[in-house]
Amino acid sequence: MDLAGKTILVTGGAVRIGRSICEKLAQSGAQVIIHCRHSGREARELAARLKTPGHDAWVIQEDLDTEAGCESVISRAFELAGTLDGLVNNAAVFHRRSLSETDLTHLLGELRPNFFAPLLLIRAFIRRAQTGRIVNILDRRIATLETGSMAYQLSKRALADMTRLAALELAPAFTVNGVAPGPVLLPSDEKGCPRDKAGRIPTGRRPTPEEVADAVLTLLQADSVTGQILFVDGGQHLLGNGD
Ligand SMILES: NC(=O)c1ccc[n+]([C@@H]2O[C@H](COP(=O)([O-])OP(=O)(O)OC[C@H]3O[C@@H](n4cnc5c(N)ncnc54)[C@H](OP(=O)(O)O)[C@@H]3O)[C@@H](O)[C@H]2O)c1
Repeated sequence: MDLAGKTILVTGGAVRIGRSICEKLAQSGAQVIIHCRHSGREARELAARLKTPGHDAWVIQEDLDTEAGCESVISRAFELAGTLDGLVNNAAVFHRRSLSETDLTHLLGELRPNFFAPLLLIRAFIRRAQTGRIVNILDRRIATLETGSMAYQLSKRALADMTRLAALELAPAFTVNGVAPGPVLLPSDEKGCPRDKAGRIPTGRRPTPEEVADAVLTLLQADSVTGQILFVDGGQHLLGNGD
């Protein structure tokens, strides 16, 4: 699929990795719908920057923790743009908590945005569109065992399985793929030297947000690739147990 003139929705698209995805999409001639929750100002600034004559950019501000919120994002996307060609499920939360520290509230607090929301957004998207491209942002931890972020890892593993199941169920009308980043950016609520927390990276450096965005664009464009998970992690998933 040629991205020029296509409309792509990016959840959590206002800042960090999501912003890079939106910027690369706009550079490829796509029109972006930037979803955000708290980063409304950043989303509006980004939309203003990405708009060019003939190429629009829109903002949808919504909490993805509820089914109604997910339905509303997709219906508003169609209202604003008239069509939707692709969905990038990027929004997520991450908390460092071990199994013993994790209760049902914590579990649901990560499963809702990281797993339930992508599933509900996909369901709402396929109900309204005839064809389309979907990319779910995963994490290289789906391939390794790493203690200390139990709920997050379970949510991303479930999303990885859902990616493959959905790819099979929704073909040929939709492709569904995943991008699994390694340590790109420290969680926004954490301070410290990113290098210290990245662990061993075979290629020797952290992947950049732009490299994650390039992988997303490759999968959005590919006509014959579905159910694929592309690791952008400098080879960390090859190392086995991440601890
Ligand atoms: N950072 C990394 O190094 C890394 C590594 C591996 C995988 N990943 C994955 O890559 C993706 C992007 O990572 P990131 O670090 O850039 O993400 P992030 O900053 O942690 O989160 C992205 C956005 O998700 C939105 N969000 C969270 N909960 C939401 C909710 N309930 N409803 C609506 N929006 C919600 C927030 O939007 P607002 O700001 O508008 O509230 C937030 O800015 C995520 O899926 C993450 O799991 C990241």
